[in-house]
Amino acid sequence: MKITTIMGSPRSGGNTDHVLSLAESLMEKDHEVSRINVSDHDIRYCKGCFSCKKTQTEPGCVIRDDMPELYEVLMASDAIIYASPLYGKSCTAQLKTFLDRQYALLNFTDWVKPETTSLTAGIPTAFLITCGGPDNDFNTAIVKDQATVFNKVMKSVDLDLFLVPHCISPDRIGDAGKRVAADLAGAVEASAEGVLPGNVTGPK
Ligand SMILES: Cc1cc2nc3c(=O)[nH]c(=O)nc-3n(C[C@H](O)[C@H](O)[C@H](O)COP(=O)(O)O)c2cc1C
Repeated sequence: MKITTIMGSPRSGGNTDHVLSLAESLMEKDHEVSRINVSDHDIRYCKGCFSCKKTQTEPGCVIRDDMPELYEVLMASDAIIYASPLYGKSCTAQLKTFLDRQYALLNFTDWVKPETTSLTAGIPTAFLITCGGPDNDFNTAIVKDQATVFNKVMKSVDLDLFLVPHCISPDRIGDAGKRVAADLAGAVEASAEGVLPGNVTGPK
């Protein structure tokens, strides 16, 4: 299985890198895992030009940056993991820009029509979030909604959001990071074996 991880933290060697690396090491035992560091790529803001909506069978984005190549990577993935630190209760702006650009993968002619789908529909997708504060509604409700809604819109198989609170530094994350990495890798592995969570639209 081809697993693509999307690293949304600008900080190499930081908390998100640490926990994501633990999960990647577990998944690499049985799968091909490749990481996209969003900060290493030229990924420009969506212009909102709607050019991408003229085509339904390919992304059709007119911005000539790294996204056309990255769309191909996403569409060829068997599972996708988005990782980000919590910034102002949300994912980082870097990851948000990457998610916004996936508007080009949406296949629709009108808002909220039931037939709306995407070119990545059915791909098992998880989110990994690290944050300095606690896991409570005030701190983490927005990012959880963000992940759920993104998965619903893209018609992904929602593997859930995995969160590590109270992250001070990578060397102090300890067992909490290992546990969350194992849970995340376990959910991806289960999806590879066809065991899917209840809120799904069906396998790829
Ligand atoms: C700009 C900024 C905003 C942040 N906002 C939050 C926040 O709203 N809630 C929280 O719990 N932690 C917040 N943090 C802390 C980070 O989420 C936390 O330290 C994270 O683990 C950093 O991951 P990294 O090492 O990959 O950058 C913020 C950090 C930064 C730099």
